[in-house]
Amino acid sequence: MAGETPVTVIGLGAMGTALAEAFIDSGHPTTVWNRSHRKAEQVVAKGAEFRADIQEAVAASPLVVTCVTTYDITRRILAPAADHLAGRVLVTLNSGTPSGAREMAAWAAGHETRFLDGAVMSVPSAVGTPDTLVFYSGDTATFRTHEAALGALGGGTVHLAAEPDVAALYDSALGGILLPALLGFLQGAAMVTGRGLPADTLVPYAAAWLEKIGAILPALAEEIDTGDYTRPGSSVGIFHDGLSSLVDDGDTEEGPGIDTTWLGPVRDLLRRAVADGHRDHSVSVLTEYLRRPGRSV
Ligand SMILES: NC(=O)c1ccc[n+]([C@@H]2O[C@H](COP(=O)([O-])OP(=O)(O)OC[C@H]3O[C@@H](n4cnc5c(N)ncnc54)[C@H](OP(=O)(O)O)[C@@H]3O)[C@@H](O)[C@H]2O)c1
Repeated sequence: MAGETPVTVIGLGAMGTALAEAFIDSGHPTTVWNRSHRKAEQVVAKGAEFRADIQEAVAASPLVVTCVTTYDITRRILAPAADHLAGRVLVTLNSGTPSGAREMAAWAAGHETRFLDGAVMSVPSAVGTPDTLVFYSGDTATFRTHEAALGALGGGTVHLAAEPDVAALYDSALGGILLPALLGFLQGAAMVTGRGLPADTLVPYAAAWLEKIGAILPALAEEIDTGDYTRPGSSVGIFHDGLSSLVDDGDTEEGPGIDTTWLGPVRDLLRRAVADGHRDHSVSVLTEYLRRPGRSV
């Protein structure tokens, strides 16, 4: 058992329901609130207390965990109960931007509420399992006080920083990897199925390929952190030439029979790097083009 801190869960969508169930399963007295009352039935059947009144829901527990769509909606829901939040700990577990997390932290501070922002890095069905990663950021002492209770949500509970926006930063940074990686696979599937071969013939090789890509990340990160791009494993030029022929040939009779329009802007980025003299430098130099100096997300 992770402990018996009473917890209130606000928001019972797919993720909020999974969070509430994980708290219940770990023995935490759990109070729930959701706009649509019907969605509470599942967790009430497992032992949660439902409160239709947001003030009563907040007042029921020292630890209030929210999981609705956005920070804005979270504030709208909590506004009538703001006085009751004073002295409690608020943990927001929706996805959002770092600036959204900073606004949320300022709102919580204005209501004398200790605040942690978090990001659940998994699907609802994996919540509560040992390898589920949940990022947190915000006041370190507050995190330590509630670490055991929050551990009910997953074995990989990580406090990243005392600044409240860092969980959202890492959530956004990792989230940005997903769609381009999936699009790469979908493009491969389009090529293979275009030749009448099933997409599943690609899966074992694509999975192994993704593992190999994972294995080169430490070397790329070292180049980015040192700013030394002069000993490339994979150069800008190699990617530029390979991608240019794919983009140029994409829609021709001899080409691979796929729409490569989405790769045009990536080719443009590589072209700029070549024009700036980076042909023989590591492809990790593109980080310099993607970062806006003097600005942070
Ligand atoms: N599902 C995932 O795989 C996953 C994974 C990681 C992170 N997340 C994040 O977790 C958060 C919740 O996701 P979810 O999958 O649980 O979404 P969901 O199933 O669509 O549920 C959305 C929740 O937000 C509430 N809500 C939306 N608009 C509202 C409003 N105007 N007023 C009051 N309540 C409102 C909904 O209430 P009603 O029930 O009344 O509509 C519901 O409780 C999101 O930020 C999402 O990005 C989700």
